Amino acid sequence: MKLLKYALLGGLAVSPASAMADELNLICSADVVICEKLVSEFEASHSDIDVNMVRLSSGEAYAKIRAEARNPQTDLWWGGTGDPHLQAGQDGLSAKYESPMLGELQDWAQGQAKVSDYHTVGVYSGALGWGYNTKILEEKGIAPPMCWADLLDPALKGEIQIADPNSSGTAYTTLATLVQLLGEDEAFDFLKKMHANVSQYTKSGSAPVKAAARGETGLGIVFQHDAVAQAVAGFPIGVVAPCEGTGYEIGSMSMVEGAQNPEAAKTFYDWVLTAEVQSLMPEAGSFQIPSNASAKPPKEAPDLSTIKLIDYDFAEYGSAERRKALLARWDKEIGSLPLQ
Ligand code: F6P
Repeated sequence: MKLLKYALLGGLAVSPASAMADELNLICSADVVICEKLVSEFEASHSDIDVNMVRLSSGEAYAKIRAEARNPQTDLWWGGTGDPHLQAGQDGLSAKYESPMLGELQDWAQGQAKVSDYHTVGVYSGALGWGYNTKILEEKGIAPPMCWADLLDPALKGEIQIADPNSSGTAYTTLATLVQLLGEDEAFDFLKKMHANVSQYTKSGSAPVKAAARGETGLGIVFQHDAVAQAVAGFPIGVVAPCEGTGYEIGSMSMVEGAQNPEAAKTFYDWVLTAEVQSLMPEAGSFQIPSNASAKPPKEAPDLSTIKLIDYDFAEYGSAERRKALLARWDKEIGSLPLQ
C-alpha cells in the first residue's frame, strides 16, 4: 500500500519522516483474536496505515511503555484493564487526548477519561469471577464454588489457576477486589490460604480458564466474559459471579506520550471508539460490554446489572503508589511461596 501511495506522489522525494506517518505501533492487551480482527479491519479501511501489533498482558504492556519512555517505540495501547492505564497516565507515560468520540461513550468510559485527566478512556467493561470445568468437578465430587470463600475448600487442592498480578491486569483486578471486599491484611491472608489450592500463576489473565476448558485444571479465576467465551466455544465451562460481590474492569486505551506516529494513533483511537467497530467484538469471541452507548452489547455478555458489583475505586487502585505497593506485597507474601 505504501509503495502505491508513494508512486502516486510522482517524482516528489519522500522523506523517511513522512514514510513513518504510515505506521502505527500498537500494543493490544485483550485476547489475541480480537486484536488481530481490529488490525485487519483497520488496515482494510485505512489502506495508508500499516499496523505493527504486539499482544501483551496489561502489566507487561505498562512495563514495556515505561522501559521505552525515553525513546517510545509504541504509539497506542488498546485494551487491557484500566488500572495500569491510569498508572501510565499518572507517570506521564501517556498523552492527553480528548477524542471527538467521547460524547458517544457510556458514563463509565467517560468517567475513566475524566479521572485520568484525559490520559486514558474506557473501551469495554466486564466483571470478575471464574469459570470451572463442569465435568472435572462432577467427576471429583466437588460442589461448584459459588463464593470467594468456597475457593479455600481443601477439595480444590491443585485445581485453581490464576494469573500473576505483575503481568496480568485480570489478576491485579482480583487482588484489588479482594482488598476492597475484605480489607488488605485479610485479603493477603485469603490469598495465602488459597495458594494451597493453586497449581499455577500464569502470565496472561485468561489462560487459567483456557486451561480449565482443555481439562488441565478444575477452575480459572478470570473475567466472566473470558469464561463465557470458552462456554460459547463448546467447552464444559460453568461461569460464576461470586456471591459476596465482585470487582470489574474498565478496559482502557491510551496514546503514548512522545509517540512517533501521533496522527495514525489518533485515527485508530477515534475509529475504535465507534459503535460499528465495537459491535464487531463478539465475532472475535470477545464478550465484554462495549463503551460506545450505541454499540450492541453481545447477547452472551454477562449482564452487569444482575451481578453484585463492588464500588471499585479505580482512582485509588490505579494510582501508581497503591498498585506498586500491592504488587510488592504480593511478590513478598504470595509469589515467593513454593507451589504445592
Ligand atoms: O481477554 C480479554 C481480557 O480479559 C480483557 O477483558 C482484559 O482487559 C484483558 O484480557 C486482561 O488481560 P491480562 O489479564 O492478561 O492483562
